[in-house]
Amino acid sequence: MLNPENILNGIAVPVLAFDRDFCLLAANDGARALLSRAKKTAPVVEVFGNKSIGDKLGTALKRGATETLSLKKVGKDKRDLFITINRVTPTDPEGQPILLVTLEDRSPYREARTMRSDFVANVSHEIRSPLTAVSGIVETLLGPAGEDRETCEHFLHLMDKETRRMTNLVADLLSLSLVEVKEKRAIKTTADLTQILLSAVETVRPLADQRGKHLKIDLSEPLPEIVGNYDKLLRVFINLLENAINYSRENGEVTLRARPRKPSKPFRKPSIQITVADQGEGIPAHEIPRLTERFYRVDKSRSRAMGGTGLGLAIVKHILVRHRGKLVITSEIGQGSTFSVFLPVPKSQNPKQS
Ligand SMILES: Nc1ncnc2c1ncn2[C@@H]1O[C@H](COP(=O)(O)OP(=O)(O)O)[C@@H](O)[C@H]1O
Ligand SMILES: [Mg+2]
Repeated sequence: MLNPENILNGIAVPVLAFDRDFCLLAANDGARALLSRAKKTAPVVEVFGNKSIGDKLGTALKRGATETLSLKKVGKDKRDLFITINRVTPTDPEGQPILLVTLEDRSPYREARTMRSDFVANVSHEIRSPLTAVSGIVETLLGPAGEDRETCEHFLHLMDKETRRMTNLVADLLSLSLVEVKEKRAIKTTADLTQILLSAVETVRPLADQRGKHLKIDLSEPLPEIVGNYDKLLRVFINLLENAINYSRENGEVTLRARPRKPSKPFRKPSIQITVADQGEGIPAHEIPRLTERFYRVDKSRSRAMGGTGLGLAIVKHILVRHRGKLVITSEIGQGSTFSVFLPVPKSQNPKQS
């Protein structure tokens, strides 16, 4: 003989059964995960922490038609639930009807909506500030100040900086959307990591010279071949090196290091670990988990002054997800930060060192 709980557990969606007095008869694991108060014999109003569901159960019991309702912020995890209630009448004339309550967790839709509107607000804000600056400059140049050559040059340089900011932002937005779309697509090409790392270093060398930072490279030779996209991985290391250069102390060292590694915490596959370490002020521990969020910056004005868009690490994260890799950030205040990238090595390659 099957008990009702076993039957409900065989159903792939969260579902609960109530008796004609609206007390809980059974619930499956999916429903219990959403409703911590789903205890046997508990009244429906208590299970959901809401009165209106009691009325709906009453209507379903009386009329036998399907009833639906949406409840917001239910349970301790504040889930948005779409609820469907059906009366099940036994064939046996003596038997009692039961009410089957099916749940659909619609919270991910709400979260996606919030994320989308936050993103649009952020993009608008980021575009508006350089645009305001440019229109102010144009206005100034159209006035009497425009007749003086030196003043003109000064304002044109400012305008150049602001338009560059907008161009960077649009370029980063585009690459973010491209890497997001392709995140789940498997990569079929192999890449020479040594060449990528050397090329990234050469790309950022002029910036390092300009900012007075010493670039050091420490690569163990030869690095095993990996599955990867050359351009995307190049973008990852350029972004990390640029950050290390931009956010570290004058005259400090920025070190790029790469080593094959055996499986162990925090990456349990044979991999290559590439670290970009700087001697900067460091990042407060509570900020670290948020660095890969779009537009998140520890110091907004500093990032803007460096020509940052706040999207660099978000792009890095998405590229690494596609490469089945990982980014681990550690930092010590006053000492500096280390950004470690782990890239898996295919089984046919066997790292020699740990
Ligand atoms: N090496 C680093 N040292 C200190 N802070 C850093 C470092 N790398 C990144 N950050 C912080 O993380 C933020 C986000 O980085 P990123 O996504 O590359 O955006 P951006 O550089 O355009 O501001 C930066 O604004 C900065 O506050
Ligand atoms: Mg950056």
